[in-house]
Amino acid sequence: ARVGVLISGRGSNMAALLYASRQPDCPYEIALVASNDPDAPGLALAQAERISTFALGHKGMKRADYDAILNRELEAAGVRYVALAGHMRILSAEFVEKWAGRMVNIHPSLLPKYKGLDTHARALEAGDRVAGCSVHLVTLELDDGPVLGQTEVAVLDGDTPATLAARVLIAEHQLYPRILADLVTRETRPDALLDKVRELAL
Ligand code: GRF
Repeated sequence: ARVGVLISGRGSNMAALLYASRQPDCPYEIALVASNDPDAPGLALAQAERISTFALGHKGMKRADYDAILNRELEAAGVRYVALAGHMRILSAEFVEKWAGRMVNIHPSLLPKYKGLDTHARALEAGDRVAGCSVHLVTLELDDGPVLGQTEVAVLDGDTPATLAARVLIAEHQLYPRILADLVTRETRPDALLDKVRELAL
């Protein structure tokens, strides 16, 4: 299955998806890496790895117009699934509906806890002993779609948001490729779950 990855920055999750895709049995390949920030370090990495990239700054553009262009690029690349990986821009309803059930995101918390930003600081402030990450289907509400997989990560005494984030990131890099592989494999065997997922996603 051909996957498009949307990034805005560092791109370490994109890299994890890419390197996993080079394993012999991986059921997906990265067809395009797109960024709404032309200076995103992840873009340079994708280019060095000979992956097609698309960069377009969103400033001054209407959301719907921007997303229509992005959608065209994804379709031109033959993309079937979209993976958001540190993509820091809200997508239009049209775009979300178009990719419903085929677009996933990784979020650095154990959803439904801590949607949005500063997840690690919030987990530490709350005194949580366990943090983690989630991969979920993207729906209209931010960080709200059905969770497809999670990894728990212990909080250590003395953790700061930065040290916790670094450890959770290791778990993200393990989780994301596995859940994406599961999702694209699932579609090859039609089952009730997929219908359910589509229903929820819309
Ligand atoms: C990750 O922690 C991801 O969970 C969050 O943003 C960060 C992106 O990092 N959505 P990277 O660009 O994948 O390195």
